[in-house]
Amino acid sequence: MLNNHRSDIITIDGPAAAGKSTIGEAVAERLGYRYLDTGAMYRAVTWIALERGINIRDEAAVTALAGEIKIDITAPTNDDGRQYTVLVDDEDVTWALRRPEVDADVSAVSAYPGVRTAMVAQQRRIAGGGEAVVVGRDIGTVVLPDADLKIYLDASAEERSRRRYEERRDRDEDADYAAILRDMRRRDRLDSSRVMAPLRPADDATIVDTDGLSATEAIDAVMEMVCRGAN
Ligand code: DC
Repeated sequence: MLNNHRSDIITIDGPAAAGKSTIGEAVAERLGYRYLDTGAMYRAVTWIALERGINIRDEAAVTALAGEIKIDITAPTNDDGRQYTVLVDDEDVTWALRRPEVDADVSAVSAYPGVRTAMVAQQRRIAGGGEAVVVGRDIGTVVLPDADLKIYLDASAEERSRRRYEERRDRDEDADYAAILRDMRRRDRLDSSRVMAPLRPADDATIVDTDGLSATEAIDAVMEMVCRGAN
């Protein structure tokens, strides 16, 4: 749907735990658009590499794997709180992608240029039909630079770590705020300093700082931009 009041493709980029998935999913639902979380694709490559015993530092092996596997992201196939279902060669890996060992290695995997090339091709194919909210790090800058509306969601490392900490506690998982903050800063550094497609706002992105905003307030702010049809 492309008219003066709506945008056909909306990109949402920003650092980990800035609220991209909560806001992206809600905006997609309100508009009846598809929601595509591209981070899940890098996580899927990481998980399958770990499962197959591939050394994560072996760039050639991980890159070959990324070119071989078929990743599908579909509407949820299970009513267990998931936002979507991730299938790798028809195996449901949706929850495995959230494991701490994936968190620990995914920045390294997503820094490999060959992995990125393979994932970007799949992302463009999936979003190519339009009517999509696409969430990631480089969507507005690299994957879909012609998108109608580009948002860059930001929040301080402390606020983002607090959110991750609470999410883990809500799921009854072990959570250590200091360790989460340390890991958040490490990932920010890796995501922002990699050579290919580093994390940064597109020149024509609107920056939304979610520090001190509730999820509802942030969703409303993005919906207002969508309805204005302008950056
Ligand atoms: O959003 P997330 O935490 O699920 O992302 C997982 C990792 O993938 C993170 O290290 C950043 C990386 N990523 C990326 O490099 N490019 C994207 N478009 C999406 C995620």
